[in-house]
Amino acid sequence: MSGPRQPRHFGLIPAAGIGARLGAGIPKQYMPLAGKPMLAHVLDTFAATAVIAHTFVVVSADDGYIGDLVAAAPHWQGRITILFHGGADRHASVLNGLNAIRTQVSDDDWMLVHDAARPGLTSGLIEHLIAALRDDAVGGLLALPVVDTLKRSDQDGRVAQTVERTALWAAQTPQMFRYGLLLQALTQATALTDEAGAIEMLGLQPCLVEGSPRNFKVTLPHDVALAEMFLRS
Ligand code: CTP
Ligand code: MG
Repeated sequence: MSGPRQPRHFGLIPAAGIGARLGAGIPKQYMPLAGKPMLAHVLDTFAATAVIAHTFVVVSADDGYIGDLVAAAPHWQGRITILFHGGADRHASVLNGLNAIRTQVSDDDWMLVHDAARPGLTSGLIEHLIAALRDDAVGGLLALPVVDTLKRSDQDGRVAQTVERTALWAAQTPQMFRYGLLLQALTQATALTDEAGAIEMLGLQPCLVEGSPRNFKVTLPHDVALAEMFLRS
């Protein structure tokens, strides 16, 4: 007896940025970290996670690095597809990617959108997110409760206000939503936002699932040493 079709889980990795703030001379997703390029860490993790049916990577149309990366990773065969559909910003890259895979996914399949710049993600974190959202009507994201005391500054760099940190979280990725809802949300979103922000604009409330410090976004030069420490541990 076969029940209703179970929704599948797909990875979608926006990797079409240039990494201006890191200033590595090459797009940061291709920067070597603990022995392999940042994007290879992410794709190895997605490819090795059994619950992920397939993973799509969005790179820019003129990307000159991805070919060598794929050639060096025969174990991604059949697990990873490269989409040369990068846009002007992250939002556009994700939306272009979603549109490009329209015929390959169903509206109720889950999309896990994950930054190429977060190489510290593990299969365990992916499984934790999926388990937490399995029966969720909306979807959600990995995030970390804020532990520092927060200050809002004035124009002179002096404290204007202490911000109550209770109930504040820092958003991470993956952000996990059903394909149909996510496509609608990002198509309609009027401001630059993460996937969760676009869902919120529809009046829905994404679920916060506790992530991990090792899943931080490599953004500035001083982040490199910390990323290597997590990746080696
Ligand atoms: N990204 C993308 N398309 C863009 C811009 C960003 O797919 N046009 C991706 C990046 O490759 C990265 C993720 O979005 O995986 C998060 O963006 P960010 O950390 O800001 O990366 P960059 O935009 O490359 O860095 P910067 O803003 O410093 O230039
Ligand atoms: Mg950016």
